[in-house]
Amino acid sequence: MTTNMTKILFNELGVEQTKKLLRCGECVAIPTETVYGLAADAQNPNAVRKIFAAKGRPTNHPLIVHIPNISHIQRWAQDVPNLVEKLAEAFWPGPLTFILNAREDLDSPVTGGLKTVALRIPAHPLLLDILTDLDMSLAAPSANRYKGLSPTCSEQVLQQLNGRIAGILEGGNCEHGIESTIVDVTGNHVRVLRAGPINASDIEEVIKQPVIVPNTHNDIVPGNVSAHYQPNTPVTLLSQNQLLERLEENNNQNTGYLVFSENCSDALSRHNVSGNRIIKLRDTPAEYARHLYYSLYLLDTPDTAEILVEAPKQDTSWLAVNDRLSRAASYCLADD
Ligand code: TXA
Ligand code: MG
Repeated sequence: MTTNMTKILFNELGVEQTKKLLRCGECVAIPTETVYGLAADAQNPNAVRKIFAAKGRPTNHPLIVHIPNISHIQRWAQDVPNLVEKLAEAFWPGPLTFILNAREDLDSPVTGGLKTVALRIPAHPLLLDILTDLDMSLAAPSANRYKGLSPTCSEQVLQQLNGRIAGILEGGNCEHGIESTIVDVTGNHVRVLRAGPINASDIEEVIKQPVIVPNTHNDIVPGNVSAHYQPNTPVTLLSQNQLLERLEENNNQNTGYLVFSENCSDALSRHNVSGNRIIKLRDTPAEYARHLYYSLYLLDTPDTAEILVEAPKQDTSWLAVNDRLSRAASYCLADD
């Protein structure tokens, strides 16, 4: 851990500084197309341990290894099923992470002690260039403190990790705004362990086989804990009617609102709720996901008493968004 202030690294010089730091075994926050990650040389155990220390993350919570190309798969995994090649061709570089059997001789803190390993090729051009140029695999969890919200811009990384890491490579706002889809391909069927930007139906179309999407999967994978992705302010999920009722009963000036319907935003204006306490997101899953964490960061200020969220519908296209919202929420009343 470093006690100096964390530097934001810009432009070409920033990319060169990032590479240098990574080569020296330091941790650097990097942009990905999903959320910002906290990267270190995956083959350097001391560098990987710095990630756990900076995040305050338990060392049995495994990390995703980001690789520059598919030839790196065999450095980490064995018994790779054929469908991985098909899926990689369709979705890599991109927001899909495979859980594969780890090589028998692999002894690395990235697995958190499991016999499996998580791999993906990310699509953000800056990161992909760095990976390719260094020909290195980079371990990178989301660049937040343990259980915090994943950051989707460099300022939010700084808010959480200032003084704990060497630098943050500036790469703009993340395109997807939520973490990658994670699929376990070690069994007879592909199973979604974490819903994300790529849906089960997108995967089924490529492999022509059904994909299992457990409601709450039974694997207790360390790191997949329900109280995750939480802002400091309590979040409550409400149906549109519940939210409108709450507004009639009690319009607390310290409440923040995350809504998407015209009904809710009109009612909030009628009740003179201050504009900086309301965020209205677009009513489509990809657009909503892109701005979700960013919006929660904005509403999560020290003078906010609670955040009320208008729950999106329970529909498979909203699965990833609803998963993140239910983890962010301390209370979930929405049932209609
Ligand atoms: O989009 C993403 O996936 C981002 C960017 C930075 O790539 N990364 C990310 O990493 O979300 P992290 O560490 O915040 O979440 C990784 C998840 C954890 O829930 C962890 O339990 C799971 O992946 N995971 C990692 N290795 C695993 C394994 N071998 N078996 C099952 N789950 C695993
Ligand atoms: Mg995370």
